[in-house]
Amino acid sequence: MNIDGNPTRTIWPAGDVVEIIDQTRLPHEFVVKRLRSLDDAAEAISVMRVRGAPLIGATAAYGLALAAARDVSDAALCAAGDSLIATRPTAVNLQWAVRRMLARLLPLPAAQRAAAAWAEAALIADEDVVRNQAIGRHGAARIEAIAARKAGPVNLLTHCNAGWLATVDWGTALAPVYAAVAAGVPLHVWVDETRPRNQGASLTAWELAKHGVAHTVIADNAGGHLMQHGQVDLCIVGTDRTAANGDVCNKIGTYLKALAAHDNGVPFYVAAPGPSIDFELASGREIPIEERGAEEVTHIAGLDAQGRLASVRLTPSGSRAANPAFDVTPARLVTGIITERGVCAASREGLAGLYPECG
Ligand code: MRU
Repeated sequence: MNIDGNPTRTIWPAGDVVEIIDQTRLPHEFVVKRLRSLDDAAEAISVMRVRGAPLIGATAAYGLALAAARDVSDAALCAAGDSLIATRPTAVNLQWAVRRMLARLLPLPAAQRAAAAWAEAALIADEDVVRNQAIGRHGAARIEAIAARKAGPVNLLTHCNAGWLATVDWGTALAPVYAAVAAGVPLHVWVDETRPRNQGASLTAWELAKHGVAHTVIADNAGGHLMQHGQVDLCIVGTDRTAANGDVCNKIGTYLKALAAHDNGVPFYVAAPGPSIDFELASGREIPIEERGAEEVTHIAGLDAQGRLASVRLTPSGSRAANPAFDVTPARLVTGIITERGVCAASREGLAGLYPECG
């Protein structure tokens, strides 16, 4: 993605440190933060300076490279992997990246491990970009097919942020948007605000604006109404973990959008790169759902009257709040899964057809 004309990824190595865009400061401030250690990487994932399943995976890979720069023993690398996996439970990309890094590093002699860790992390990041570009091509074909049947712009609804900021580059759910716009398809995106962390209002809106894509931010509760009134042609969302049967776990609220889409005959697609599919889980019921802090519900962040970042309370101080961060959309509500290998049915057979080696 170009940020003010400069091609920019969301994470990159810089000498012996790693740099990230601190997403807790967007959309109001663009701040690059340095990760100097394993602990910095783990903190960035848990407080969501980086977030989105593919980017969490890439950050964990670089976190292991930072750990290997200090201690390459088996014990130290395995402990580093455990501490990274403990940061967030739902996105399977985190475990996938840690397992891949350890499988690459542990068989090597100690003297080769540190260099190999940086190289493997860079490979994981580069592969994410290639995968997302392919998802973009496959998804754009679905958008173009709708554009060919209607006058005026295609109206696409997305939930949370599954864009450039959630990956190393391009995004998953938004990659088809960028590809379709590049192909000249008239397109408008409805952006769910995505309470409680507001990834839609803060991040999706910011990156679409930077890219010049027409969009409108809506309250989370507005999507069903827009679908009833023919104002949504298709939905595309991302996924943190898709089970082998096609059940899709994604940001809390995705399920309600899928129900509304189903009720209104609106196609509901999920963009899922291979590392977000967990072939070890038979169904979505087995996916661990992260419970985050109540303050993400009781408070909201924004700019105060002086233009400073501030957090304000929304709820009565005595009210308890609950914060399940993800939900599971049953496969029966999903029109298709857009992967880097093509689009398939949200089913065991559909996924196994595209990933026969994982069956
Ligand atoms: O809590 P977050 O912001 O990490 O949740 C992100 C999502 O739910 C995304 O939709 C998902 O990770 C797919 S990102 C390409």
